Amino acid sequence: MTITARPDASGNPPGTGAPEGGSPAGPAATADPRIRDGCLVPEVIRAEFPILATATSTGKPLVYLDSASTSQKPQAVIDALDTYYREYNANVHRGIYEIGERSTAAYEAARVKVARFINAPDAHEIVFTRNATEAINLVAYAWGRQSIGRGDVIVLTEMEHHANLVPWQLLVQERDGDLEFIPITDDGILRLDVFEVLLRLRPKLVAFTHVSNTLGTINPVAEMTRMAHEAGALVLIDGAQAVPHVPVDVGAIDADFYVFSGHKMLAPTGSGALWARRELLESMPPFLAGGEMIREVHLRRSEWNEIPWKFEAGTPDIAAEIGLGAAADYLRTLGMGRVRDHERELLEYALPALAAAHPDLALYGPMDPAIRGGVVPFNVPGVHPHDVAQVLDRSGVAVRAGHHCTMPLHERLDLPATARASFNVYTTRTDIDALIAGIAEVKRVFGV
Ligand code: ALA
Repeated sequence: MTITARPDASGNPPGTGAPEGGSPAGPAATADPRIRDGCLVPEVIRAEFPILATATSTGKPLVYLDSASTSQKPQAVIDALDTYYREYNANVHRGIYEIGERSTAAYEAARVKVARFINAPDAHEIVFTRNATEAINLVAYAWGRQSIGRGDVIVLTEMEHHANLVPWQLLVQERDGDLEFIPITDDGILRLDVFEVLLRLRPKLVAFTHVSNTLGTINPVAEMTRMAHEAGALVLIDGAQAVPHVPVDVGAIDADFYVFSGHKMLAPTGSGALWARRELLESMPPFLAGGEMIREVHLRRSEWNEIPWKFEAGTPDIAAEIGLGAAADYLRTLGMGRVRDHERELLEYALPALAAAHPDLALYGPMDPAIRGGVVPFNVPGVHPHDVAQVLDRSGVAVRAGHHCTMPLHERLDLPATARASFNVYTTRTDIDALIAGIAEVKRVFGV
């Protein structure tokens, strides 16, 4: 098996010709109505997301502020799925017939697009997974069970999503290893001074999130990776909340494993990826076993396929990964630098506007938009976040409420739960104004 569509030197996917996001305009870029004066025009972008033209059952327009949970999908991604099922639905790497070859080519082209999107040096280093959670479990089982033994230390952080915590708990319980945690400050910034001390334990692995799903903190991942490597540890980065929102260059970060989900980056559910260094993937045993991941099978022994297919047992979610390739293309043409600028500007608008309209509102996370993504957790004093979310829903405003799969982080901040608004490329200031008005309605309903 070979991947024929290789990244070209310019970093553009084969056959697209469009400049990488953030590049100065050529004629095609200036003609793109979604970009004006080098900035995204979210009002134009919104029109490409059919669901954002709908109303909720109360007749209010949908104000979607739960993109950290899952993003909405543009027509280009919906079309990629639709075309696959209508025109060339067939298994990959199997059928010696036209639609089977077309399906295989599209699936492998998606791998190349994803590799290029995160600047992976080799598309063979991209393993498709269902989501970031599955990718972390893959590493915990395949790398972890051969590498972690009695007394070995894995360093995590207090802000991890359960997906980057529970797999390591299971691993150290089974292998008799230990977990240590980089603490956070009260405003949600990692204590690198303590990290430095923890590294004296000579951990085998340091695993941390790139961007906090709950607080929005953007962690200094390249610096942390360098520190971990100097101490002899490998590094896994959970990029689920980073890849959709900030430019990610795995080559520059220089980590060993980088994982993310497709569904948060405008792609279908069931898509995602693990990037890892080739030599690591080659040295790791398989995770799931069955068809496709083998080269030869005998009754009592088998030999494994080459990477990445060694880690893709069974029929994959072909349509979803093709959709992930389409989403990577979509974001690339917007430009990830512009995406980041857009979300930062929204944050610069939202934080003071929320505080001015509702001085009693509790806001969490770093208040400096330079180190924060578009995630705004908050509490209305005297009202449970579930009630906040329910009343906001009556105004058409969708936010998440609860612990956001970060119970230890909420424990650390002494919070039972929070409400959380989160942004994406289609989010506008009007959405934030609707949130502010919705919170006024929450206070009216609860008399606070
Ligand atoms: N990890 C997702 C969130 O933060 C589900 O909401």
